[in-house]
Amino acid sequence: MDTVLVLDFGAQYSQLIARRVRECRVYSELIPYDTPVAEIAAREPKGIILSGGPASVYADDALSIDPALFELKVPILGICYGMQLMAHTLGGTVTRTGKSEFGKTALNVAKEVALFNDLPREQTCWMSHRDSVTAAPDGFEVTASTASSPVAVMESPEQGMFGIQCHPEVVHTPFGTDVIKNFLFGPCGCQPDWTVVSIIEESVAAIREKVGDEHVICGLSGGVDSSTAALLVYRAIGERLTCIFVDHGLLRKNEAEQVIDAFENHFHVPLIHVQAEERFLTRLAGITDPERKRKIIGEEFIRIFEEEARKLEGARFLVQGTLYSDVIESGTRDAAKIKSHHNVGGLPEDMNLDLVEPLRNIFKDEARNVAAELGLPDAMVWRQPFPGPGLAIRIIGEVTHERLEILRDADFILQEEVRRAGLYRELWQSFCVLPAIRSVGVMGDERTYAYPIIIRAVTSEDAMTADWARLPYDLLETVSSRIINEVPGVNRVALDISSKPPSTIEWE
Ligand code: XMP
Repeated sequence: MDTVLVLDFGAQYSQLIARRVRECRVYSELIPYDTPVAEIAAREPKGIILSGGPASVYADDALSIDPALFELKVPILGICYGMQLMAHTLGGTVTRTGKSEFGKTALNVAKEVALFNDLPREQTCWMSHRDSVTAAPDGFEVTASTASSPVAVMESPEQGMFGIQCHPEVVHTPFGTDVIKNFLFGPCGCQPDWTVVSIIEESVAAIREKVGDEHVICGLSGGVDSSTAALLVYRAIGERLTCIFVDHGLLRKNEAEQVIDAFENHFHVPLIHVQAEERFLTRLAGITDPERKRKIIGEEFIRIFEEEARKLEGARFLVQGTLYSDVIESGTRDAAKIKSHHNVGGLPEDMNLDLVEPLRNIFKDEARNVAAELGLPDAMVWRQPFPGPGLAIRIIGEVTHERLEILRDADFILQEEVRRAGLYRELWQSFCVLPAIRSVGVMGDERTYAYPIIIRAVTSEDAMTADWARLPYDLLETVSSRIINEVPGVNRVALDISSKPPSTIEWE
């Protein structure tokens, strides 16, 4: 399988580069910028991409590159900061010209060398930079420019090195994917043979190698990620896998029964159902800080898995459906922590189980393709994501039985109406949030002082960015009136109209 490695210099959207490469059916992974060159060489990549990054090559804390990377004789594409680093390291000039470029910019292609083969001479591209390359290193040709960047693209096919100042990975660069394809299928000589079937084969082989003859447990939530991870592991090791479904009391109305039914009807994987509502709610009593909630829930999950593992011939491995987006939001060494996803940043330090996470390098839509190929029914493949910490991170402030009941009833109504309107699958997520405030209302001539419910519905491709969904007014009206009339304790409904960024999808 051809592999292209993306070195992460800390740009917000570095992972998008790897994703675009995978969309071209070439396997790609994001790795830290300072991964030792010997380790990179051992992976035998067909190509290397240097991502953008927030720094200037002249900053004191600028992330640098080992020049030995350029000796590997592997084609390299530098994007934005990656290009500047390439130019700076190989003897070109990078200057703070005072002419920054942000957003859509006209790009003039002077010559078709490799990156712009068969592409228009006049294009728009998306720029985001302050420094510019003002002189390319020896052996490079300048093949495109913009009004403020004389060296917007530089290429040296002889050395197998290419640099581009704008961002081909973002959708605002219309020919960006073509530029990436030209790099992959031109200089790198990649074959587009990374398919869903090959992901499954690779994962199954990797799982077998990792777990050997051991027994394995899988934390199953009923969502597409953990179900897909479970099926991959089942394919690899059969009955040595036991799934564990923990009902932490933070699920939606009727959810536990539905998950168990769906799993038992479709699969033959042994399933243990752990009732742990009181255990979780006791530990959450009085807790209002979102990160504390997340850590408590993450830890409690693991303690339960450890207890169950001890009962099962000492299972040593825990399968989780962790996705790449969970990893990045929880913070990596080079990316800031936004929130601790329960299955990544929320894990206790002293856990006794080794993790098996076959989906850790891929995004939700890629996981859905794998799920469909593995025969997961449509209703599970297209289930909207539901976070592991459940309703606890949709109840602002303390989680109590009473507040859970209110949120569950309101959420049930929203789900019912969204499905009735035929919008369930179009929306990435639709759910209700219960804030920690109350407001005054009037019902049947009486004053009320009760909670509002907030409706949150978003569209998204991979949860890294999201837009608030333009729900039809009629639907909003029905949901609002039903929630206020049918859910005791609620006297107002509001709509969240924020996108991500700057907001996040969940409220906590
Ligand atoms: P945010 O709120 O960070 O959410 O925009 C991005 C996506 O991740 C889901 N999410 C989680 N999923 N464990 C999970 O399994 C978690 O701790 C967690 N936190 C957020 C969220 O529902 C959205 O789809």
